[in-house]
Amino acid sequence: MSSSGNTALWTTSSGRFTVGPAPVPQPAPGELVVRAEAVAVNPVDAVSGLLRHVVYPKLRYPVVLGSDVAGTVTGVGTGVERFRIGDRVVGYAAGQEQHRNSSAEGAFQHHVLLLERVTTEVPADLSPEQAAVLPLAVSTAAAGLFEPDQLALPLPTADSAERNGVVLVWGASTSVGANAVQLARAAGYAVIGTASPKNHAFVQSLGAEAVFDYRDDAAARRILEELADQELAGTLAFGRGSLTRTLPIVRAATGSGRLASAYPTPATTIRARLAQRHGVHVTAIWGGRPTRSEVGPAIFRDFLPDALRTGRYRATPTASVVGTGLDAIPAALAELRAGVSARKLVVTLP
Ligand SMILES: NC(=O)c1ccc[n+]([C@@H]2O[C@H](COP(=O)([O-])OP(=O)(O)OC[C@H]3O[C@@H](n4cnc5c(N)ncnc54)[C@H](OP(=O)(O)O)[C@@H]3O)[C@@H](O)[C@H]2O)c1
Repeated sequence: MSSSGNTALWTTSSGRFTVGPAPVPQPAPGELVVRAEAVAVNPVDAVSGLLRHVVYPKLRYPVVLGSDVAGTVTGVGTGVERFRIGDRVVGYAAGQEQHRNSSAEGAFQHHVLLLERVTTEVPADLSPEQAAVLPLAVSTAAAGLFEPDQLALPLPTADSAERNGVVLVWGASTSVGANAVQLARAAGYAVIGTASPKNHAFVQSLGAEAVFDYRDDAAARRILEELADQELAGTLAFGRGSLTRTLPIVRAATGSGRLASAYPTPATTIRARLAQRHGVHVTAIWGGRPTRSEVGPAIFRDFLPDALRTGRYRATPTASVVGTGLDAIPAALAELRAGVSARKLVVTLP
């Protein structure tokens, strides 16, 4: 590694941010380096204090955080055949994953090391800002839908046949949920979602056949009526309270009792154990799993490039560019903590 020519947003173990020099990463086999042009922020980057140590117990500090980066390839490691220097790409920066644990792979810096297996070509008509919304949201949605210990649905292909069964996506206007709707449709399933009424048209535009308001006390009954005699193929729960709201639906519906949650808490873990008695199998999604599983390359290498290029898959939700430069990221994280609706906060790095 050379020690000049890169700058990163460093985070200390107490959560303080500083912009400072960082080594320029050199790609090993299966890796590439990109010059970051746009990065997106995620709820996991915005947690602070003790919670970050709970989510990432082994992280070495100071650390470069961030999972979503779009930019231009500046170096490729041996064995990487798909990419050339100058290609426009978007990838999952996997530095916070325990099997990587490396600041060279944090998104919040100018030169970022990426794993080829979770990197995708960006088509000419997609801006880096809009492409940056994809990686962690796609990866988390794909983990929930396709990992064998989650919903274990068949992976999407360019010509997936329509399948029997409905995927319920609770929290379908979240970044993760919007991508789950598209991936479930691409895998051939009908989708029912929940979102605020102002986002129903957005969720339907992604392919959901019906959308209900998650704040409506009658949402569960309405969803069961909508299902009628259709079977559930699986249920994804995103957003606060989503496990509590989806458990009775899965219990009452026919079909798969699998329910994958991205918002597990100790209380919901106990409820999930109780649900097992009623045939409901609750699992916790880890969005970074595809960085090391077969699901990662199946989506980022085999499915997304063509689906994005042909318009069969939309980079969604809409990017809101909230600043420029690494020192704009802490304010973006504060804005994310205050809450967003059907949009992803992005910072450009010119
Ligand atoms: N386990 C993992 O590895 C992993 C990875 C990524 C994310 N997550 C978690 O997954 C969730 C979604 O993350 P994200 O980045 O996609 O979030 P996000 O886009 O920032 O979420 C914003 C959306 O949340 C929706 N929302 C708010 N409260 C809700 C509720 N009670 N029920 C359903 N939807 C609600 C809002 O919908 P409306 O505007 O329509 O009201 C809004 O559009 C978060 O809890 C996040 O921490 C987990």
